[in-house]
Amino acid sequence: VRVRVLGAAAGGGFPQWNCVCSGCRAARSEPARAKPRTHSSVAVRAPSGRWLLINASPDVADQLETLYDDGPAELAAVVLTDAELDHTLGLLRLREHETPLTVVATPYVRRVLSVDFPIDSVLSHWAGVIWRDLLPGAGPIDIDGLMVEALSTGVKGPRFAASRSDEQAVVAIVVGPAALVCAPAVERIDSALESALCAAGCVLFDGTCWTDDELLSVRAGGRTATQMGHLPLSGPSGSLHTLRALDVRRVVLIHVNNTNPVLLDDSPERAALQSMGVEIAQDGLELAL
Ligand code: MLT
Ligand code: MN
Ligand code: ZN
Repeated sequence: VRVRVLGAAAGGGFPQWNCVCSGCRAARSEPARAKPRTHSSVAVRAPSGRWLLINASPDVADQLETLYDDGPAELAAVVLTDAELDHTLGLLRLREHETPLTVVATPYVRRVLSVDFPIDSVLSHWAGVIWRDLLPGAGPIDIDGLMVEALSTGVKGPRFAASRSDEQAVVAIVVGPAALVCAPAVERIDSALESALCAAGCVLFDGTCWTDDELLSVRAGGRTATQMGHLPLSGPSGSLHTLRALDVRRVVLIHVNNTNPVLLDDSPERAALQSMGVEIAQDGLELAL
């Protein structure tokens, strides 16, 4: 299975337009030290040659340009891990899609995008959306020849959503039995997720923050990683500790926030990652699974 990381950064991108943290400054002035990255999104090639897009980022149109072949990249479907703006704004940019766009999501995410942020009704004035349900833990569904399954990774909905959230709020996407786990937002790792992580050939994992309070030190009024529904990477209760204990075959961080020091190639945190054998995604990274 051909997998391409279209974008590796968390909300805001890297650099983020209004940020002058050391990482963002480096990304602007010394890109060789800190490669800029667009919002997190992953494309998986289906047997038909069409692409399954995991999340539709605000950068989606430019990201799809990188898949241009003899013609535009054809989409089989968009699968959503959650309803956050950095994973759904791109649906609006896909409004030129000539036929109804298939969007695969949990009933919770579908509700948020129909009620709280009604992309669904906006897009109905173009070709519209065909929704397909993805139920965490219910086993795989076939999308254009790819077997796709969702596993719950968190219960926090987006901050703008009034809809009450639950275990459908945030999921990891598992593609193909034991091939890829794409988990850009992980609040907790339960036993079902553990099993999928252990079995996977490659895991694209939530790399939002190195430490829990990282955003607070850069922005007044910032929230902790935990408050945003992301496990921090470092520390005894951090995700790297768990991933190491599970002996996951290949871990590549994605959805990395601009404040995360691992984005600086020469940081001690990056060296620590390297010594653990953990990779960090950059835009355009290709995985053959
Ligand atoms: C998240 O990943 O937690 C969200 O994208 C944060 C946000 O932009 O509100
Ligand atoms: Mn995000
Ligand atoms: Zn920054």
